Amino acid sequence: MVTDDGPDGVQPILEEIADVLEGTPDEGVALYRVCRLLRERIPHYDWVGYYFAVPDEKLLVLGPFAGAPTEHIRIPFGRGVCGSAAERREAVEVPDVRSEGNYLACSIRTRAELVVPVFLDGVLVGEIDIDSHRHDPFGPRDRALLDEVAARTAALIPPILHDVPNVRRPADVERESTG
Ligand code: SME
Repeated sequence: MVTDDGPDGVQPILEEIADVLEGTPDEGVALYRVCRLLRERIPHYDWVGYYFAVPDEKLLVLGPFAGAPTEHIRIPFGRGVCGSAAERREAVEVPDVRSEGNYLACSIRTRAELVVPVFLDGVLVGEIDIDSHRHDPFGPRDRALLDEVAARTAALIPPILHDVPNVRRPADVERESTG
């Protein structure tokens, strides 16, 4: 629940996000627009993206994102900050990536990272990943905002999970294994 809606609060951004979600029927486009909006509105968000969870394979796959392209398209649970958050099923904040051993570098300019899990009915369906070029930029307002964005966008992930390149449907895997 977001209670901080003062002048620097998150309520105006959440209202813009609500408009985006209402006006964008395509789930993938909607998630991309949410990423772009967060990146544009919040000065310390330099890369904003979704990773989708494929629990059967204990794998994260890159979904819509705003920011520089990343080589980290598929991340096993447990690897890097994103994989840690998936394994622990909780948010992970790294104020200074230079002090984090389990970190997958995306841009050499990144200084800090915040990963928030996205749950749908208690099931981990993905994560929102924020990279910042600033040192230790995140506070409770970021968590409040991203928890709320995660809750509002969780239902958009399952319908498009298998549209993501390189993610095989369980049925495809079955077909391959039975020849
Ligand atoms: N830094 C992340 C990898 C994803 S990129 O930041 C987009 C990690 O350590 O998991």
